[in-house]
Amino acid sequence: MIPHKINRSATQIMAEVISNKKFGPYHHMVFAVGEMAANIKPGNFVAISVGGEQSSLILRRAFAIYRAIDKGPMGGSIELVIAPHGQGSTWLCSRAVGDFVDLIGPLGTSFGIPTTNANTMLVGGGYGSAPLFALAELLKNRGCRVDMVLGASTANKIFAPLEGKRTVSSLTLTTDDGSAGIHGQISEAIPRLIRELGTEVIYSCGPMGMLAAIAKIAKDFDIAHQCSVEESMACGIGVCMTCVVPIRNGDGVKMVRTCIDGPVMDGSEIIWDRKEVLDAMNI
Ligand SMILES: Cc1cc2nc3c(=O)[nH]c(=O)nc-3n(C[C@H](O)[C@H](O)[C@H](O)COP(=O)(O)OP(=O)(O)OC[C@H]3O[C@@H](n4cnc5c(N)ncnc54)[C@H](O)[C@@H]3O)c2cc1C
Ligand code: FES
Repeated sequence: MIPHKINRSATQIMAEVISNKKFGPYHHMVFAVGEMAANIKPGNFVAISVGGEQSSLILRRAFAIYRAIDKGPMGGSIELVIAPHGQGSTWLCSRAVGDFVDLIGPLGTSFGIPTTNANTMLVGGGYGSAPLFALAELLKNRGCRVDMVLGASTANKIFAPLEGKRTVSSLTLTTDDGSAGIHGQISEAIPRLIRELGTEVIYSCGPMGMLAAIAKIAKDFDIAHQCSVEESMACGIGVCMTCVVPIRNGDGVKMVRTCIDGPVMDGSEIIWDRKEVLDAMNI
């Protein structure tokens, strides 16, 4: 088997911030990335150096690419949706238009597209919905039916821009507190929707717990499931092994780096249950 390598199109650039707007609890940021934009596929991510030159924050932070536009008044650009959370993301969200950031991209794997006109369901949790809108557009252009299900803890944490909503055949919202859409966790709504919509392929992106729940549902229904995993990453380029997840390897277990073998992976290959991992390793 040919070993997976860092995305061959990846380059390191100083990218100028060309827009930074608050969007509910998130920041929608646009960066000028020049020719890089032409090589970006839905599912890829970028790794951004945070904190400035004198910072003690030495680890890059990974961000899924919401949209890439390869032509425009500023040349190629990418859009990110960032939740100011800890030190790194808060630093990034406070960048002003005209500032530059050190950015590597595009990184990681991208979503695979069905060869036939499949009925697809795109499931996003919180800002995890961001990379699904470019995927929705691509699937629709290939003749697939695209149903989208977006969930979050509460209404204002659902990221669902207007133009994105127009690309999909149906949009279902769920919130844990019932403030919008169906009351409950997103995974509770999925089985009924799969039956009603005749879903053949699921794409998901969001917190690991949500992905694990969807992987189980996909297995029960025997349908394909591609998920974008969000394991903690330190280098983003395959060097540090921080981002590994266990996958099935015959009767055993193999650890793979989600920054180069992912973030988009086959949900059925990942061993979501840590007990199963320990048993397989005889620990
Ligand atoms: C593939 C991928 C896509 C993502 N997409 C998005 C997105 O679209 N929007 C978004 O808001 N966030 C996204 N994230 C999460 C993002 O990378 C950050 O984890 C998040 O913004 C919090 O970072 P922080 O610096 O604010 O918080 P902090 O708590 O300061 O840092 C958290 C992250 O920093 C790294 N880290 C910090 N210290 C260590 C350490 N000692 N050892 C190892 N690692 C350490 C880890 O990556 C950890 O996840 C994504 C993550 C991944 C892996
Ligand atoms: S984040 Fe360093 S190897 Fe994946």
